[in-house]
Formats: sequence, C-alpha cells, structure tokens
Amino acid sequence: MFVKVERDYEAMSQRAARIIADLVNQKPDAVLGLATGSTPIGLYENLIRIARDEDIDFSGVTTFNLDEYEGLPAAHPESYYSFMQQHLFDGLGLTEQQTNLLSGMAKDPAAKCAEYEEMIRRAGGIDLQLLGIGGDGHIAFCEPGSSLAGRTSLVALHPKTIADNSRFFDRKEDVPRKALTMGVGTILEARACLILATGNAKSDVWAKMIEGPVTAQVTASALQLHPWTIAVSDELAASKLQNLDFYRHIDRELIDQPELPLCIFQPELDPRRNIFAAL
Ligand code: F6R
Repeated sequence: MFVKVERDYEAMSQRAARIIADLVNQKPDAVLGLATGSTPIGLYENLIRIARDEDIDFSGVTTFNLDEYEGLPAAHPESYYSFMQQHLFDGLGLTEQQTNLLSGMAKDPAAKCAEYEEMIRRAGGIDLQLLGIGGDGHIAFCEPGSSLAGRTSLVALHPKTIADNSRFFDRKEDVPRKALTMGVGTILEARACLILATGNAKSDVWAKMIEGPVTAQVTASALQLHPWTIAVSDELAASKLQNLDFYRHIDRELIDQPELPLCIFQPELDPRRNIFAAL
C-alpha cells in the first residue's frame, strides 16, 4: 500500500484529482470506479476544474459507482445517482451512457447485481477504483463481517453507518437500512485502488486499514492484499499511523515520478524499482 499524507483536506483532494486526471490523459477510455460521501467532494470539484483548465477529454471514460441505497429512486435527492449528477457528472459533462450505478429500486436485486458485475467485465474491468472509508472500517457498503471475497449484492447496513448517514436525511426513520454494493472481491479486481480519508474521526480506522491485520471486521484492510492501493489522507486522519515517517520517506522518493496507477499502463515507468533498489 502506498501511503501519502497531505497537509489538509484541500491538498488531499488536489492530489487525488491529479491522479485521476493524469490517468484519463494517458488512457482516455479509462474505466473509473467512483464513490459518494463527503470525502470525495473536494476531489470532484478539483477534477472538474482541472478538466476545464487543461481541456481533458472525458468523453471516452466509463464509470461504475460502488453502491446505492435500496429503496431510493434515482430522482430522490439523497440517492447516490443524484449525488453523482450534482457533484461530478454534470460538471464533467458525462452522459447517461457513460455512467453506471446500481438501481436502488431493482425488483430482483440479485439479478441486477449479477448484471452489474457482467457490465464491469464487458467494459474491460475497472482501471482505478476510488474509495472512502466508513467509520466502521467499511469500503463501499461492505460492513464488518462481509466476505473478503464477496461480490456485488444487497446488504444490510451497520447501525453505525445508518447513524453516520442520518446527517443527510431530515428524519432518522428515512435513512435506508439496506444497500446494493460491490463486494470486496469485486473491488480487489480493479487494476488500482485510490482510497481517501480526512479528519480525526477516521484516524482509528485508517490506522487499522493500513497497519492492522487483514480482517473482515475492517473490510478496508483487504486493500493490503491489492498490489496497487494508494491511500491518501490529510494529517489528521494519518495521526495514529505508527510508521508515518517511513511512509513520508517513500513518498518523498516518488516526487517527480509519475503517479503510480499510470505505471500499470506503462510498467517501465514503475518507480518502485528505483525506490526499493535505494533502500
Ligand atoms: C460511498 C461509499 C462509502 C463511503 C464511506 C465514507 O459510495 O461507498 O463506503 O465512502 O462511508 O463516507 P464519507 O466520505 O461520507 O465519510
């Protein structure tokens, strides 16, 4: 796992946006896995600005979102469909044909989930999967105890997740109790993962994800098994990491090197060879 610590939320967002912008520049038909929630909003704002300022063409990109609440129609203001239109798709001019989300209103969720997996496969697989981390250590809506080999499915949300998400709803009883979500197994098939965290409230789970054991109790820890995970956070979220100085050292060595996901498409640029040779 490549651990990068930025000064604050804005610096984290800029760095993450730059990784995605560079990827799309290099691979204009990139398949992006996307996340919702508070964390990536700054990244999306920066990405829209970079795309405009640098005239980056997103017309060949395909996107797949991680998850959607069960029982919310796409038009509901708190659906993840609405979130993505508001925070990214409108700003980048992405069309309905380019963007894919699970439907919270599917009559047969299991069939929809299997179809979603098939659509990802037909698109050639996800190049870069963006993720946030939940207060209970989840990625997507893979709650504690989820199979680390799990596929896209309908799941029950943990009470902590329901409580965390209640800030977006007027009444507690309106907060969805279930969601359709990619599984950890689905996520680990992406060619690269980019996970973000901000603020002190995430510092415990961030340390568990990076330095704790791989466990289904903290599904984000499964990213330790992925060869290309980049974990970018602000100082506050990183404050409980034991090996912070070492991560900073590695990160400094990477300055002026192409960002890591790009090396998947141009292995000869892989900066790890130089770094590990220097250690
Ligand atoms: C959202 C998602 C979730 C969030 C996580 C963190 O699509 O899959 O795993 O990334 O709950 O949410 P925030 O960013 O609101 O703290």
